[in-house]
Order: sequence, then C-alpha cells, then structure tokens
Amino acid sequence: MSELSMEQRIRDAVGFIEEEIPYSPEVGLILGSGLGVLADAMEDVTVIHYEEIPHFPVSTVEGHASELLVGTIGGKKTVLMKGRFHLYEGYDVAAVSFPVRVMKALGVKSLLVTNAAGGLQASFSPGDLMLISDHINFMFRNPLIGPNENSLGVRFPDMSEAYSAELRELAREAASGLGLTLREGVYAAMTGPSYETPAEIRMLRMLGADAVGMSTVPEVIAARHAGIAVLGISCITNMAAGMLDQSLSHAEVMETAERVKGSFLELVKAIIPKL
Ligand code: 6GU
Repeated sequence: MSELSMEQRIRDAVGFIEEEIPYSPEVGLILGSGLGVLADAMEDVTVIHYEEIPHFPVSTVEGHASELLVGTIGGKKTVLMKGRFHLYEGYDVAAVSFPVRVMKALGVKSLLVTNAAGGLQASFSPGDLMLISDHINFMFRNPLIGPNENSLGVRFPDMSEAYSAELRELAREAASGLGLTLREGVYAAMTGPSYETPAEIRMLRMLGADAVGMSTVPEVIAARHAGIAVLGISCITNMAAGMLDQSLSHAEVMETAERVKGSFLELVKAIIPKL
C-alpha cells in the first residue's frame, strides 16, 4: 500500500465517488455468492468500476464483477459492492475492509452483509438462511491493527453487539412476513481457501460456532469501528466436513446458492427499505 495515510486514501476515494453520484447512500450492501443479481433490482443506478476509484482494491479474478453501484432499492439510497474481496485471494485485511471505510465516509449508517457458509448444527440443512448473531474470528487478522485513526473510530472498539439486535429483530419480522424460516447462530470465519478438516469442524462446534465461512468478519470489524450498524445473513449452502458422509465441493455451494437465491433475494429486498 502507498505511503498515504488511511484517512487520505479514504478522502481520495470518496472525493472521486461523490463527483459521480447524485446523493449520499445510507445503506451499504456486501452480498455473497449468487446475490449480485440484486443489482438488477436497483433503480436510478450509477455504476463505478473499482479500477477507477483511487486506492480501491481491484479484483484479479477473471470474470469477477468489480463494480460499486449507487442507487435505490425500495426507495432506500444504497451503495452495493458488486464483487467483494476475500483474504484467500491474497488481499490483506486492510484492502478487504477499505470499501467499508469508504461507505462510512459516503454516509452509510447500516450495512447488510451476506455470505455462503457451511452448516455446523445437525439441525441445519443446505438452503437454510441463518441470521448471524455473533462471530468468532479464526482469521487471526484484524483490520484495526496499526496506528488508530481516531477520526474513524476508537482504539478499542466494543464488539458486544457486533450484529445489531434491533436489525436482527427487523430481519425476523421481514422473514415471518414472507413465511420464511430464519435460523440464527454464530459465524466462524476462516481464511480458506481449503475447506476445514472434520477435526477442525469438531473443534469449531465445541467452541460454539453454528456456521463457517471465508468472509464477512474483516468488513464487520471495520464497520463496527466506524459505528455502522451491521446485519449479517448466511446462506447455509452445505454441511461442513464430517457432518455428513460425503465430501464438499464448490459446485454444491454454488448449486445451493442458486437454488435459494429467489427467497434470499426476497428477504433482502424486504429488509433494505427498513434499514
Ligand atoms: Cl464448509 N467452510 C468454509 N470455510 N467456507 C464455506 C463452507 C465451509 N461452505 C461454504 N463456504
């Protein structure tokens, strides 16, 4: 990364974006596998390619969307990341969480994050949607390490309610209005890209995790540091290693994500106007 301070890099990025957009977004969206199509439900959209934004990380994966979209969903002014960054791609936590800092500076007050995750609860089934009540950071990396930018947030942020109880209640109401069942549980974040071993999954279960994935936690830590309220929802795309007598594949993850996309999208669309 450059010699510029984090604050300066954020100012550069926000300065550029604000020239392009007609209003400030209030809600931020970082959507996992398969939900990028929510972009199609956005109205009045301004598309900004990541490459154009000063200091923004750029996706190296071919065929990966790399766009920041600003528009409205159900009348709510939103900013959506079409294409997110993962540690397993080689980005550091600072890069993975930079877009959240930019969202904050654009005016975002609440952030909805979704992901695909493996299920650790025997009662879960592939296709279940799980409200994230809390997380365990098994990435052992934290975007706040280094000099604290006091203008962004405090040195030692409280994580007692990383996932807003108020927003979770709102999500439960939206789900029940749609007749959807919502599970709730703890998300454990691993770096990946290999899936866990059965022994690692037994460990995670013992430690109180209900789902496991490879994203979300760096962004959520940066959001909480910045005082953004967070709502997280996992799509349980498969059962974790050793839970069933079968192996895991990315194909299964994508198939399940595709199968539940419709109801997941309905839920997200019902929640956004209330954020
Ligand atoms: Cl089982 N593990 C991890 N780390 N990420 C996943 C997963 C499992 N299933 C979907 N994403």
